[in-house]
Amino acid sequence: MLAQVFSVANQKGGTGKTTLSMNLAAGLSRRGRTLIIDADPQGSAGQWAGLSSDERPFPTSVISIASNLAREVSRMRQDYQYLVIDCPPTLETGVAQGAMTVSDKILIPILPSPVDLWASVRLANAIEQVKMYNPKLLPYILVNQLEPRNAISRGMSQALAEFDIPSLQSCLRRRAVYRNSALEGASVYCMGKRGESAVQEIESLIEEILAS
Ligand SMILES: Nc1ncnc2c1ncn2[C@@H]1O[C@H](COP(=O)(O)OP(=O)(O)O)[C@@H](O)[C@H]1O
Ligand SMILES: [Mg+2]
Repeated sequence: MLAQVFSVANQKGGTGKTTLSMNLAAGLSRRGRTLIIDADPQGSAGQWAGLSSDERPFPTSVISIASNLAREVSRMRQDYQYLVIDCPPTLETGVAQGAMTVSDKILIPILPSPVDLWASVRLANAIEQVKMYNPKLLPYILVNQLEPRNAISRGMSQALAEFDIPSLQSCLRRRAVYRNSALEGASVYCMGKRGESAVQEIESLIEEILAS
């Protein structure tokens, strides 16, 4: 069986791509052999895993790939069950498009405001073009940093409903444990009781994307 490939993409920085990539990969690694591909020249995914301790290593390896991404991914599909590609926050270099060309699914984390959704229109156009080469590609919007205890606002849910790309039922709340897990080079799965709610939302996200 070839690996399922997930790209985590958004042409804006700071929407949660790396946070999602690392925690998604940690959750997927409990289900099958998983690798993180750091396609962002900023190298945050590699730095994150580099902060882990010998006693508690990050559960998956992170490799940095800048060139020949598509060819490298095709090769690595043989050896893993899941590949997670943390994409750079730009469409200018073609790296994100290359990643999406070899992906099964794209997860697009956005902040919970219609403005942030509208900022993804260029990404939506890029996905349409990639679909000419990869017609089975499935993109999903994932709302990240939703205020604890708040529901998605009416304006936001209307904007999501009207947007070209479907959104996932699951969303990630704004929780300090996501930031703290990065500082410890860990995932929310290793944060004990503090991480429980975050683990639940990552698990429900994984169930949803594996079922869709
Ligand atoms: N759900 C969340 N709750 C709290 N902080 C978050 C959450 N998602 C991301 N962050 C924080 O937001 C910042 C940007 O996230 P990051 O994953 O680095 O975004 P990107 O990779 O898209 O640039 C980081 O400081 C990260 O810790
Ligand atoms: Mg990042």
